[in-house]
Amino acid sequence: MSARCTVGSRHGWNLVCAHTRNLLPAPVMGTSKNAPHGIFRGGLILLLLLVAGPGWTAGGGDYLMHAEVDLSDRKSLQRGARTFVNYCLSCHSAALMRYNRLGRDLNISENVLKENFMFGTDKTGDTMTVALNRMEAEQYFGIVPPDLSVTARSRGANWLYTYLLTFYRDTSRPTGVNNLAFPDTAMPHVLWELQGWQEPVYREEIRKDGKVTRVIDHLEVVTKPQQKPAPYQDEPYEETVRDLVNFMVYLGEPIKLKRNTIGAWVIVYLLILLVIVYLLKREYWRDVK
Ligand code: HEC
Repeated sequence: MSARCTVGSRHGWNLVCAHTRNLLPAPVMGTSKNAPHGIFRGGLILLLLLVAGPGWTAGGGDYLMHAEVDLSDRKSLQRGARTFVNYCLSCHSAALMRYNRLGRDLNISENVLKENFMFGTDKTGDTMTVALNRMEAEQYFGIVPPDLSVTARSRGANWLYTYLLTFYRDTSRPTGVNNLAFPDTAMPHVLWELQGWQEPVYREEIRKDGKVTRVIDHLEVVTKPQQKPAPYQDEPYEETVRDLVNFMVYLGEPIKLKRNTIGAWVIVYLLILLVIVYLLKREYWRDVK
């Protein structure tokens, strides 16, 4: 466990892995001796957990890297969609999304959609399903790669960002890689040709019981990609991942794109109404005075 329970401090985040596999905080219990106190404390903790809800379910708060999500950036969403169909859709589905909706929402024309985004089908009304057979997938990975339609909501954008940036070489794993956000993940590092290979840099830490353990301090790219495939040549890997996470946030809740615009119009409407109501008020009071 020690090698996988890691702390990455150079990037300003601390990654405590023991909890991340189950994505739940460690259980906290009150003692029975002081039961009322315990119940009170339990209630308080429950309240805090509710308040901190999204942070916890996303696998933790401040020790994850921060993803700059911006759903108004259509170009970023388009680039993310491109990476998603090229690198993820071979194993994962996104069964809640239809190609024609993707085209409409992200301003991708039908021709471009058909040529660059749709590989398994030619019907734009189809959902983004996967070519990989479930049985075969289970044979290869020991688990069927989950549908990614709403993963950004269940895991959170920061978790996804950290996950895709922290694959590192680990020869003890069947895939040859491990991950800081998802220890012992069955997923291979599918974006290696864009990022290269990372290896952990360790440091020693003294545990509470006085024993010295080796923990991962941070990851370092040891083999850079020789020649990145087009159109990624000039794009830093962090940018590619940011666009991909941006796209996955959109995927999790496509209506968000519209909701922001609707919200803006509602405010404009209310402001106009305010002016009218104010003028009306003045008109009424003129007679009263
Ligand atoms: C070669 C097949 C394969 C490809 C390609 C692939 N994945 Fe995976 N992925 C998996 C497998 C297998 C798992 C299950 C890991 C586990 O549970 O241990 C997984 C799990 C995940 C998870 C964790 C989901 C969860 O909530 O547990 C995310 C997120 C994910 N993949 C994202 C991606 C993204 C983004 C891409 C494209 C860049 C991608 N994957 C490409 C095989 C793949």
